[in-house]
Amino acid sequence: MPRTPDYFQGKTIVITGAASGIGRATALIFAREGANVVCADIDGTGAQDTADAVVAAGAQAVATTTDVSQRAAVEAMTDEAIASYGGVDFLFNSAGAAFRRSKFLDIDDDLWKRTFDLNVNGVMYGMQAALPHMLAAGRGVIVNMASMSHKRGGPGASVHYASAKGAVLTMTLGVAREFAAQGIRCLSISPGPVDTAFQGTANTTAELMQQFRNDVPMKRFGAPEEIGELVLFMCSDACEFMTADTVYVSGGGGWR
Ligand SMILES: NC(=O)c1ccc[n+]([C@@H]2O[C@H](COP(=O)([O-])OP(=O)(O)OC[C@H]3O[C@@H](n4cnc5c(N)ncnc54)[C@H](O)[C@@H]3O)[C@@H](O)[C@H]2O)c1
Repeated sequence: MPRTPDYFQGKTIVITGAASGIGRATALIFAREGANVVCADIDGTGAQDTADAVVAAGAQAVATTTDVSQRAAVEAMTDEAIASYGGVDFLFNSAGAAFRRSKFLDIDDDLWKRTFDLNVNGVMYGMQAALPHMLAAGRGVIVNMASMSHKRGGPGASVHYASAKGAVLTMTLGVAREFAAQGIRCLSISPGPVDTAFQGTANTTAELMQQFRNDVPMKRFGAPEEIGELVLFMCSDACEFMTADTVYVSGGGGWR
């Protein structure tokens, strides 16, 4: 919760991956607080659905069809935010995927490249596009989605994905420290398993799903809203001394 009532009223957040899961839940949480939400996703129909839900909740929204692995598309997304609302106060880079589970020796160039194009380049392009506007305004908060998998390394199923999320963690640290004295904060979130379309998209087996659940001391997946509320806190004026770090939201761990 923000320290100042109505802190988010009329401020603008750009959310990538807004069509589904954590991105969509976060869009609705910011709508509840009265923020303008730029809903970006490669799934343009889904992004529009989220924007419609934000408007139905009484806030303002625009939708953009954006493939975050394309620099020009991310720049166009940012331009649209500026044209619509005059600035970008917050950027939440939620778009991401593991594509498919794979043993390390079976990871081919295509899987490795697509994983890094989306999870690493997408975050880098988003930050490079938003930062000049944030610097001009003298303030801004960026929240990047990492994953608890960066701690485990993804053995047997997801070294490609865990490595990409490790890069997200490192980028976040570097950007946070480079711009810390200029009013910018940059944080990452490292969730354990969250109940979204993510596992289906990655073709996670029922056996691996059970293993994830068994590994979590709370014995359940997180809900996307349980991540979205943390994004809200991180962006708020109740969180002004926090930057560079990752925060684990994992039901008690799972990296033993
Ligand atoms: N669900 C989990 O268990 C979990 C755990 C840790 C981290 N994460 C991370 O959380 C983030 C959100 O995942 P989610 O669980 O909400 O999954 P999700 O599949 O519900 O949502 C991901 C969204 O990203 C979009 N997307 C995919 N490729 C894109 C591209 N090239 N450009 C723009 N958008 C694209 C998808 O269309 C989808 O709407 C991801 O970065 C994921 O790696 C998820």
